[in-house]
Amino acid sequence: MKVSYRVNGVTVEADGVWPGASLLTVLRDHMDLPGSKNACEQGECGSCSVLLDGELVCACLVQAGQADGLDVRTVEGLAGDGATETDVGDVQQAFLDAGAVQCGFCTPGLVVAVDHLLARNPDPSDAELREELSGNLCRCTGYVKIIDAVHLAAARRRATAGAGAAGGSGG
Ligand code: FES
Ligand code: FES
Repeated sequence: MKVSYRVNGVTVEADGVWPGASLLTVLRDHMDLPGSKNACEQGECGSCSVLLDGELVCACLVQAGQADGLDVRTVEGLAGDGATETDVGDVQQAFLDAGAVQCGFCTPGLVVAVDHLLARNPDPSDAELREELSGNLCRCTGYVKIIDAVHLAAARRRATAGAGAAGGSGG
C-alpha cells in the first residue's frame, strides 16, 4: 500500500506499507522520523503523540491509511517547517532549561502535547496542564520538572507575544 502525508510542511510518500500498519510505524520505519517513540503501542503512554490535521493523536492508534493525504506534525517539526535535526523548538528548549528530561523516552510525546496545549491555552494552571498531559506518562521525573518546563515555555511565549504586540503598536 502507498500513503502520502504532508509531514512538517513537506509532502512525503511511502510505498510498500503493510495495510495494517500504524501511522507511527510509517513515520518511524518508512519516513526516517524516529522522534515519535513506540513504548506501548496501545494508546496508553502518549510517547507517540503527533498532531494530525492539528489534533493531538497517538500515532500508534491511527492506521496508516487513515492519515493518507493529511497534515502531520511530529516532534522533528516543532521548530518550524524546514527545521533540521539540530533545531530546537521553544518547548524543547524549556524542557532542557528546566531539567525536565531524564531518560527522554517520554519527552517527544510530551513536547508535542505541550506545544498543542500552549497553542490553545497560553497560561495554563497546574490543574489544567496536569489534566491536559494526563495521557503522557513519564516513569522518571515525577512530573515536577515537566510542569516547571511548561510554565517556563508558556512565560517565554507570552513575553515574546507581548514584545511583538508592543512593537507592532509602536509602528
Ligand atoms: S506508543 Fe502510542 S500511546 Fe504508547
Ligand atoms: S524522562 Fe524517562 S520516561 Fe520521562
